[in-house]
Amino acid sequence: MTDETSSTHNHSRSADVAARIERRWAIVAIAVIALIAVMAAYGGIHRATMPQTQVETIDPTTLHLNGEFIESNLGSAIEPNGSVTVRVVGQQYSFTPQCILVPTDTPITIRATSPDVVHGFLIEGTNINTMLVPGYISDLPVQFNKPGEHLMPCHEFCGVGHEGMWGKVKVIDKFDFLQLSTKERRLNCVD
Ligand code: CUA
Repeated sequence: MTDETSSTHNHSRSADVAARIERRWAIVAIAVIALIAVMAAYGGIHRATMPQTQVETIDPTTLHLNGEFIESNLGSAIEPNGSVTVRVVGQQYSFTPQCILVPTDTPITIRATSPDVVHGFLIEGTNINTMLVPGYISDLPVQFNKPGEHLMPCHEFCGVGHEGMWGKVKVIDKFDFLQLSTKERRLNCVD
């Protein structure tokens, strides 16, 4: 064997080794990408991440005139399936209703929007944290397992009165809520 053939031989062997290592790392990289794709899909489907895939629009200029966000339709209502839907409007510089009343141990859907500018919508002690954008409906699932009160500040600068824009969520016992709902169609805890 001459020196030349031996070096060619070594060269092709190290090329094989390199190809094997490259293949192995390519598999690792593809596995990581696949894992991230699965996590993103899972997060989206189970609503564990933002932004949501669903987009609902509404005309902000006629909110108060017709549709689900007219004043008499705001507040908490029991649905035929036993869940509760809460409709809220955030405007400069308050929420309507200012105090949201909800029951314990019940699936709740909050539907909220804004007629004027972007507001923040956050319920302390929950993972509800979003924005109310004029023209769009924010649709958020939440459930409370014990009675209590949660602060609900606007956390998006919305004008000179921003710092005074606060609401709250009051969670009461499921049976008390049911009792109240037999008397009124839309509930809130505004005094
Ligand atoms: Cu509304 Cu800040």
